[in-house]
Amino acid sequence: MIEFQQVGKSFHGQAVVDDFSLAIAPGEFVVLIGRSGSGKSTTLKMVNRLVEHDRGRILFAGQEIRAFQPEDLRRRMGYAIQSTGLFPHWTVERNIACVPELLKWPAARIRDRVTELLELLQLPPDVYRRRYPHELSGGQQQRVGVARALAADPDVLLMDEPFGALDPITREALQLEMRRIHRLSGKTIVLVTHDIEEALRLGSRVVLLDHGRIVQAGTPRQLLAEPASDLVRDFIGRADLGLRLLALDTVASRMRPGPIEPNNAPALRDTDSLREALSTLIARGTSQLPVADATGTLCGLLHLSDLVQPSA
Ligand SMILES: Nc1ncnc2c1ncn2[C@@H]1O[C@H](COP(=O)(O)OP(=O)(O)OP(=O)(O)O)[C@@H](O)[C@H]1O
Ligand SMILES: [Mg+2]
Repeated sequence: MIEFQQVGKSFHGQAVVDDFSLAIAPGEFVVLIGRSGSGKSTTLKMVNRLVEHDRGRILFAGQEIRAFQPEDLRRRMGYAIQSTGLFPHWTVERNIACVPELLKWPAARIRDRVTELLELLQLPPDVYRRRYPHELSGGQQQRVGVARALAADPDVLLMDEPFGALDPITREALQLEMRRIHRLSGKTIVLVTHDIEEALRLGSRVVLLDHGRIVQAGTPRQLLAEPASDLVRDFIGRADLGLRLLALDTVASRMRPGPIEPNNAPALRDTDSLREALSTLIARGTSQLPVADATGTLCGLLHLSDLVQPSA
């Protein structure tokens, strides 16, 4: 879908992205992570030609992106930028409708789409569609920015720290929503963050950048279990390695299946992460708990010792 071949970019003679090669398949959820100034935003902006690369090639749908009109690329790729970038003199509705209007969707369809997106992002449409960006909080503006990126249902979403200004609860809700959108739509998503939790939670592949170069690109599990260098270990946080590994698996993957006699103990959910399960076991002061499936039927048992098996 998107392929970087030895891509480089310099500002004032200084390389800020260097020898960057990465092939992103359709439907992948790639997370770019790295310290401030490591070249994440520049890498993202090169994809829709907000920044032109000066070395190497970037392919989109098999063609060098220079072969596309920048406007065409931007219509085909939703983009949520770090600073929201909403047009200050346009209402929320008009901001979100920007690309559908360029694509000349009928007015009624645009209105319905705006309503749908505002609801999705938990901004009641009646209250917010007529407001101007300065009448919104930072987190609300960010959500409008995400709605705008999603508006025309593009195949590719480029998202630069889209949840940066959100409180942990809204942030987690939106992360879940992004995962759901990704699962259901099969969109190709490239998301920038400097939050390792967010990267490990969302990415099917995580790419760690340092000084414009890739330090490691791999699945969350690969980064955790086979870090390529001390920098990766430091980034992940050595202390929490075990807990982060547990966060990648669900209770269903380790439980002992079988019918369970109902008792009064509230059950774990089979879709809970093992990290949540550990927390629950500790909080309840018990070494085992029954597991329930989506219908509430008890379907197995999870024992504390099941958490220390090496992962499959
Ligand atoms: N238009 C520009 N002109 C000159 N230098 C730039 C420009 N844009 C970015 N840079 C420099 O390029 C480097 C990489 O910037 P970039 O915005 O890609 O970093 P980042 O990884 O997104 O950082 P952050 O996490 O702080 O957003 C920085 O040193 C920055 O100062
Ligand atoms: Mg940035």
